[in-house]
Amino acid sequence: MLQVRKLTKRFGGLVAVDAVDFEVTAGEIFGLIGPNGAGKTTLFNLVAGAIAPDGGDILFEGHSLAGMSSAGICRRGLARTFQIPQTFHSMTVLETIMTGSMLHRRRVDEARAAASDVARRVGLGARLDLPTPSLTTAEKKRLEVGRALATTPRMLLLDEVLAGLNSSEVGAMLDLIRAVRSEGTTVLFVEHNMEAVMGICDRLVVMDTGRKIADGAPLEVMRNPAVVRAYLGDTAMEPAHA
Ligand SMILES: Nc1ncnc2c1ncn2[C@@H]1O[C@H](COP(=O)(O)OP(=O)(O)OP(=O)(O)O)[C@@H](O)[C@H]1O
Ligand SMILES: [Mg+2]
Repeated sequence: MLQVRKLTKRFGGLVAVDAVDFEVTAGEIFGLIGPNGAGKTTLFNLVAGAIAPDGGDILFEGHSLAGMSSAGICRRGLARTFQIPQTFHSMTVLETIMTGSMLHRRRVDEARAAASDVARRVGLGARLDLPTPSLTTAEKKRLEVGRALATTPRMLLLDEVLAGLNSSEVGAMLDLIRAVRSEGTTVLFVEHNMEAVMGICDRLVVMDTGRKIADGAPLEVMRNPAVVRAYLGDTAMEPAHA
């Protein structure tokens, strides 16, 4: 469904993403993990069209995304969330989700009905008319997922949707991600929380300093000595989640 080929991005002398190859199959929950500075967000932003690559290509359902705007990519069926929830101060929950559901709908009443369905799916059905700044961190993360889901994507790109959540909120978010997948949306999941990723992903890619160091099923990847090495300092300092 998504093929990333020799994808490369440089910032000055730093190669943030270095000739990375991987492939996501339809129906998967696919994880992209790695320690701080590995290049996860950069790779994510390349796939979402927020920044342009210096080399390589990204194919979504057989079509190259090269040169497409992020809006064009979203219209193609690939929707993203933002690591820092984008909450528009003057907007309510319903209005925020409508910015997603308006993508494929011209009638405002239809967009509103679709947005209210999505709000229920992400557990914000009782919050429709609240201004977004009054939401908790966990609710803002759910709102981000809802705004992206409202564009009816075939693939959803999630950037650190577990960051800042407590363990019960993490569990609820993982349930939501599983539900999204079971409704037919493929998920690409960028996350720092290794344990959560191990529990939910069918397959994953591990990056370190711009390069892919492993990919495969979670247990197989965890046994890879390069992955153990990359994470040694990191996991010792991370609180346990999930
Ligand atoms: N806009 C930018 N300009 C210059 N350097 C950047 C830019 N964005 C990222 N980098 C650098 O590229 C490297 C990869 O950063 P990136 O944010 O992709 O890592 P990450 O894996 O998402 O890390 P984290 O787990 O901390 O979110 C880092 O060394 C970072 O400092
Ligand atoms: Mg990041």
